Amino acid sequence: MPSVYIKTYGCQMNERDSEAVAAQLVAKGYTLAKSEAAADVVLLNTCSVRDFAEQKAVNKMRNVVGTARSEKRDQIVGFMGCMAQSRGRELIDKLPDVDLVLGTQKFHRAAEYIEELLAGRRDKIVDTEAEAKSEAAIREHLLNGSAKTSVSAFVSIMQGCNQHCTFCIVPSTRGEERSRTIPDIVSECRELVSRGVKEITLLGQIVTSYGKRFSAAELFGGTSVPASRSDKSAFVQLLEAVHEMDGLGRLRFTSPHPRGYGDDLVEAYARLPKLCESAHIPLQSGSDRILKLMHRGYTREKFLGIIRKLRQARPNIGIYTDIIVGFPGETDADFEQTMSLCREVEFDNAYIFKYSPRRDTPAADMPDQVPQKVREERNHRLLELVNEIAARKYDAFIGKQVQILVEGPSKKNAARYTGRTRCNRIVLFDGSARHHGQLMDVKIERTGSFTLYGDPAVVNL
Ligand code: 5AD
Repeated sequence: MPSVYIKTYGCQMNERDSEAVAAQLVAKGYTLAKSEAAADVVLLNTCSVRDFAEQKAVNKMRNVVGTARSEKRDQIVGFMGCMAQSRGRELIDKLPDVDLVLGTQKFHRAAEYIEELLAGRRDKIVDTEAEAKSEAAIREHLLNGSAKTSVSAFVSIMQGCNQHCTFCIVPSTRGEERSRTIPDIVSECRELVSRGVKEITLLGQIVTSYGKRFSAAELFGGTSVPASRSDKSAFVQLLEAVHEMDGLGRLRFTSPHPRGYGDDLVEAYARLPKLCESAHIPLQSGSDRILKLMHRGYTREKFLGIIRKLRQARPNIGIYTDIIVGFPGETDADFEQTMSLCREVEFDNAYIFKYSPRRDTPAADMPDQVPQKVREERNHRLLELVNEIAARKYDAFIGKQVQILVEGPSKKNAARYTGRTRCNRIVLFDGSARHHGQLMDVKIERTGSFTLYGDPAVVNL
């Protein structure tokens, strides 16, 4: 059978989609190649969120087809995911060796299309059409055999986003919000837990909007609706339903929107012990004026209020965020507002992005685009501040005892094992196969760059 190599760019949803396509092909008998040069089929699962991410995938594809040509190898190559969706056939016009362009609602058709291409029945395939119910089309995404070793799994609960932030391409790459029903999601989670998965991360582009368009009956897939739950948001009802599952150790989700952090969600953190004390809440800007231009739907004060309440509910919660610098019209004073908010909140870490104009988004046509040099300066200043705070927070772990879920041997050093704290920090320790998949306590001895080093012996003999 042919072999396939899949390279993923971008977010966790993309990783999950790549796993799903890999699992689909493996189920048909394909093998997974170790490198693109050794593969019969090469797929690049792409990201469009910034221009840089698109450029990386295009350059990679140039490289793949160039090498295959010079070595006279016959390879099927394709783009899938977000850039495939937003650029479609244009990608083949640009790179004529590309055989397949597979949009974000078509991952479940990957095997069928690749078979047609391999058999020579079709020369090029571009499919970026919308497809009803595609959000629930793929469930199987654990690779055969690896189910045993995988302690943590992603479950897609919804697709798309209706928020229409003015900088963001996601509504056009992922489409309108579509949610799976609670029973459908719960049964997938149950299956994963029965295979040994201990930690589930619920995924979606805007998970806090989960199920908003469903009636109560639709949310439960037409089955009976638990009467006591109907006052809570659909997302919190979903968290409760998954949380109930025996055998599940930890529950996480990403990405939420600050607007979705109602009191019911904050209260869920206080009430649901498996819900890990970790939250990735995208801020984007600390200036009310910029938040409005971004169409974010909250103010600086509202954001600060959410953080305060979360820290009240779970004092040790790890708080992570995304920030864009150099959004059109951002003045020095606006940027200082972002800096001061970061000083006030002290994020455990923040991902900082220089604004990148995206096609067909309102911000791309706004006046007062910020010069590249200024974007870079702001990026640099904010990064320094964020890193300084993050390092301090890492150091505060030294001497503390934390619970980790052991994921397996470290990729860099096989003698070391790696696990994650409940607040989502990586911990390395001298472990062995017997630790695999365990929830265990370690004492943190020292820190490295974005890593904690722990000693299990101190507390686990
Ligand atoms: N330019 C820069 N960063 C962006 N992001 C989304 N769109 C853009 C853009 N046009 C960032 C946001 C988002 C993260 C995934 O990527 O911060 O939260």
